[in-house]
Amino acid sequence: MNEILGMDNDGIWSEDMLWAVAMSDLAVFLLDSQGQMLHSNDAARVLAMRLHPDDVRPDPAQLLDYIPEQGWQIAMRDGRWIGEVPTRQTGLVLEVKAFAGGDRGLCRRFVVMTDISVRSAREGELRRRHDELQSTYDRLASAQEQLLQSEKMASIGQLAAGVAHEINNPIGYVHSNLGTLQEYVGALLALLDGYHTALQSDDPAASRPLLRRLRDRLDVDFIVGDVPKLLEESREGIERVTKIVQDLKEFSHVERDEPMRSSDLRKGLESTLNIVWNDLKYKAKVEKHYDEVPLVECHLSEINQVFMNLLINAGQAIAERGLITLAMGTEGDEVWVSVGDDGVGIPEDVQARIFDPFYTTKPIGHGTGLGLAIAYRIVAKHHGRIDVTSRPGAGSTFRVVLPIAQPALSRPRAK
Ligand SMILES: Nc1ncnc2c1ncn2[C@@H]1O[C@H](COP(=O)(O)OP(=O)(O)O)[C@@H](O)[C@H]1O
Ligand SMILES: [Mg+2]
Repeated sequence: MNEILGMDNDGIWSEDMLWAVAMSDLAVFLLDSQGQMLHSNDAARVLAMRLHPDDVRPDPAQLLDYIPEQGWQIAMRDGRWIGEVPTRQTGLVLEVKAFAGGDRGLCRRFVVMTDISVRSAREGELRRRHDELQSTYDRLASAQEQLLQSEKMASIGQLAAGVAHEINNPIGYVHSNLGTLQEYVGALLALLDGYHTALQSDDPAASRPLLRRLRDRLDVDFIVGDVPKLLEESREGIERVTKIVQDLKEFSHVERDEPMRSSDLRKGLESTLNIVWNDLKYKAKVEKHYDEVPLVECHLSEINQVFMNLLINAGQAIAERGLITLAMGTEGDEVWVSVGDDGVGIPEDVQARIFDPFYTTKPIGHGTGLGLAIAYRIVAKHHGRIDVTSRPGAGSTFRVVLPIAQPALSRPRAK
């Protein structure tokens, strides 16, 4: 120690400092103002031997090569540079702290090195676990998304029979009307033919009784009265089919990656009711109490799925015949929509569980227990809420409350 004090030490390291350095179990290197090593402690020598096991007396100064030029530049500017450096020994990672600073007109530099292999390995392990968790989370999120989508598709499947019936019915009478119209056209053409023949003859007036008889036989008066009715009915039938197909299209539309849009909840509720109508119409009368509501920023097809799940549940809660009450209104900066039924109701101790995934009181094939869980999730994603009031024997009312505008943070920034 003294040798360095007495030697070319630039006079910047006092004896007690050197003593502290010698005692340290961190590898410490003292440098002159040019960056030449003046002194290193035992810990530095041990570290050098670990890094150069083949050298009999490895020079600790070699370790200073691990400090990049840029490191020293930063140390000169900010007083210190800290870096983690992998070494030529696999698995051995060093934390290097290089200090530089002026003191009484002299430049002091020193370096401290710590073996952080264990910490670094632990951090690597943590990072790996974190990545694993993240990827599990991503997979779970995408599975949930798929579940949401498949529940929607399953509901559509369940509804398909009803919808098919709903479409078949108008198609049926449009088809039969077309048959009748075809007969009518045949009769009218026959009559036209009669008129034509009469006009071609030398004495058309003589054909009058014949034409009158033909007209009676073809029942033309009835046809003339019936045709507009048939046409009108057929047009209504086609319009009903078009509407159902449109609603189905809207319903099955996936807008997951699209931004939320200002949407008409009333239209959504009506078109969803249209789709499930076949399941409900034999059981329930529907009463509507709609207030004017503003457009709501949402993924409408997802909100429609919420409405559908609530409507189907309401229908299933009614045993024979009942009433479904739909209502909506505005409260402050929120819009609420409620679906009520006068069906079986939900016991109080069960009410807390109905939003749990897979909770169902229905027989296999009738319930998956996912409808309300998915409704809950969709509504939460829209920063809204869904709750229920119910009395066993009297019925239940589910209320969905949605903010008119989504909170600014959740909205993607305008480009
Ligand atoms: N309108 C309602 N009336 C009575 N019970 C209901 C109603 N809606 C939901 N429930 C109860 O909540 C449970 C969970 O509903 P849901 O998540 O839609 O699953 P599922 O309808 O497939 O059973 C139902 O099984 C039923 O017990
Ligand atoms: Mg359900």
